[in-house]
Amino acid sequence: MNPFFRTDLAHKKPPIITVPVCKRMMCLNESCLDPYQAIKEQVLQRMEITHLNRYLSPVTEELHQKLADYIGHGIKPENVIWGNGADDILYHIFLAVRENAASHAVSLAPTYFDYKTFCGAVGLGIRSLDLNPDFSFDTDRFLEMASHPDCRLAILCYPNNPTGNLFPPEQIRHIIRNLPDKLVLVDETYYEFSGCTFVPELKDHPNLILTRSFSKAFSSAGLRFGYAISSAENIYELSKVFTTFHTSIFNRVFAATILENVPLFCAHVRRIIAMRDEMFALLSAIPSLTVFPSHTNFLTFTLGERTPQLFDYLKDNDIAVRDVGAHPLLRHCLRATLSSEEDNQALYQSISRFSDITGS
Ligand SMILES: Cc1ncc(COP(=O)(O)O)c(C=O)c1O
Repeated sequence: MNPFFRTDLAHKKPPIITVPVCKRMMCLNESCLDPYQAIKEQVLQRMEITHLNRYLSPVTEELHQKLADYIGHGIKPENVIWGNGADDILYHIFLAVRENAASHAVSLAPTYFDYKTFCGAVGLGIRSLDLNPDFSFDTDRFLEMASHPDCRLAILCYPNNPTGNLFPPEQIRHIIRNLPDKLVLVDETYYEFSGCTFVPELKDHPNLILTRSFSKAFSSAGLRFGYAISSAENIYELSKVFTTFHTSIFNRVFAATILENVPLFCAHVRRIIAMRDEMFALLSAIPSLTVFPSHTNFLTFTLGERTPQLFDYLKDNDIAVRDVGAHPLLRHCLRATLSSEEDNQALYQSISRFSDITGS
């Protein structure tokens, strides 16, 4: 134990991701489109009139308005706060809701693993309700868990990573309505791939906060840009735990330029959705492979007991996918991100070949 730091940190691990490094990186739900290559000229033009030696820049106000316009449904700049990726936003929400050592969040399992990581980092506990085998969950049980006096936050991933499914909107709505005294966080990181959002309902629910990311639809995992949307009162309160200059001016310029090129990124999202649905049909036809329907940019699948060998086989074929089998419900499951036509073809052919070679 290190006496200089919080005692509860002694049992935690730093958030380090270990994935195979391959030619075809299909493991982290990134985009195969490099935004710098796509909009470089416009970014550089803007940088010519931007001053990185200053703390303040007019791009901040402009970005605020552009982001509010992109979100739509009457959302105003005061309803939005951004950070260095959705992760950074989640971290700050966890930090802002924690009251004391008994405070905890309630979520589902399996879900986005880093809810647990970041809750741990800020000293917020987390309790999880297991999904049913069909990836649905018991609403009453969730409400019961979230109603605990020390529960400070209910987290729902919509659509859920790594299962890829979208919970019925009326179920989420029922939860939001029945937890008027709790903050309910709906993580819409994959919104552009699902087309489903709770933004229009924000005005009716003061306890609702949404998080989104530029990493997926806007191809900007390396840029680090994500945001939260909620009532002006909630955003104001949340802003108190951020540092004054919490994203770089370069980040803001890049994000503003992305928002001037929404149709370009939307066209890419549409191609990924089409490839996802095509790939779902192709994989579903492989005997003994189970693939789960997805509303995201990834597909989760299993080849039962042969899955660990499939993972290695894909790696040997220079394809990195993610082992998401930590939770018993996804035992022997892998997750692959839809990528370029060529990457997707290579993935399909490798899975199909492996299944032929090893099938009985
Ligand atoms: C459900 C979910 N939320 C949040 C994030 C974090 O996104 P970002 O890259 O914007 O930090 C991810 C990343 O994969 C995710 O899957």
